[in-house]
Amino acid sequence: MYVCLCHGVTDREIREAAEDGVSSMRQLGKQLGVGTQCGRCACTAREILRESRSTD
Ligand code: FES
Repeated sequence: MYVCLCHGVTDREIREAAEDGVSSMRQLGKQLGVGTQCGRCACTAREILRESRSTD
């Protein structure tokens, strides 16, 4: 599913980024652009990041 529509980023891409070591919204924004435009995806993206970390 698409999480960030502005940048066309899916939940899977966010999980992959988390596996590659992205651990904060700031890093995620730098890498994928998530949350850097309208900001509507930030809540969901943060949740996915958090979930990916806890299943490590
Ligand atoms: Fe992610 Fe707009 S939906 S910045």
